[in-house]
Amino acid sequence: LKNLNLKNIKLQVEGSVAIITMNRPKALNALNNETLDELNTIIDGISEDKEILGAIITGSGKGFVAGADIVQMKPYKAEEGRNYAEYAQNIFNKIESLGKPVIAAVNGYALGGGCELALSCDLRIASEKAVFGQPEANLGVIPCFGGTQRLPRLIGSGRAKDLIFTGRMVKANEAFSMGLVNKVVPADELLNEAKNIMTTIISKAPMAIKYSKISINKGADLDLSNALELEKDLAALTFASEDKDEGMKAFLEKRDPKFINK
Ligand code: HXC
Repeated sequence: LKNLNLKNIKLQVEGSVAIITMNRPKALNALNNETLDELNTIIDGISEDKEILGAIITGSGKGFVAGADIVQMKPYKAEEGRNYAEYAQNIFNKIESLGKPVIAAVNGYALGGGCELALSCDLRIASEKAVFGQPEANLGVIPCFGGTQRLPRLIGSGRAKDLIFTGRMVKANEAFSMGLVNKVVPADELLNEAKNIMTTIISKAPMAIKYSKISINKGADLDLSNALELEKDLAALTFASEDKDEGMKAFLEKRDPKFINK
């Protein structure tokens, strides 16, 4: 993970947290293929690296990510458009199913594919300067990096249709009131707040975070009885873990647990 040659994304590892900064400010961090390639490589690296327990995605400048790259897409017809959507969807699926928590620290414009990138993360913390929107209809296309699916699942279909049909941009506070973001903080506190929340999450048993993430995400695709079966199976796995022994022992001994991720 440390030896990646990156141009459009900055990657820092602080302790056990990877901080991914989208860094193509001249295009407000729009996702051209080169940037998607880099994001893909980074996510694979984080997935494989046992030392990394969580990731934060943010952006440099006034953009978080202003969407798919319009310059790149302009000549696309059906096949290229579909392939582009497929490639980004695959990467965002990897983020969503990463066995570690991912927080979007949304610093600025999160539009189109940028909003969809944030939606593939587990939590969204927004700066007061953040702006969200799905403006694809202005360009004659539909959100297709997961937006027509993840947005209504998160905020309900009425609100999702409002954003997708009107293409309007919403500021952080409105995004919060819609349930699109978890918390709004002043711009200069954004990264610290995301790190603090991540520190809390990774102090828990990693397997408990991983399996609750799977149960929530996969369960949303199932009917209730199958989802509850899944929940029971995953619970059984956590009961078989050493971290469960440690967590319950520590509670009864009135001390903090020392989890070993087993
Ligand atoms: C390519 C982009 C871009 C994008 C901004 N830029 N967004 N380039 N793709 N998505 C470029 C601008 O062209 C400009 O380049 C530079 O970034 C700065 O942007 P400005 O427009 O000058 O800044 P500002 O006036 O502050 O306006 C900010 C903005 C606006 C409101 C965010 O840039 C904007 O509306 N961007 C487009 C957002 C969008 O529609 N995204 C959805 C894309 S579709 P120059 O060279 O002029 O300095 C999508 C999914 C489709 O994401 C999937 C299909 C497969």
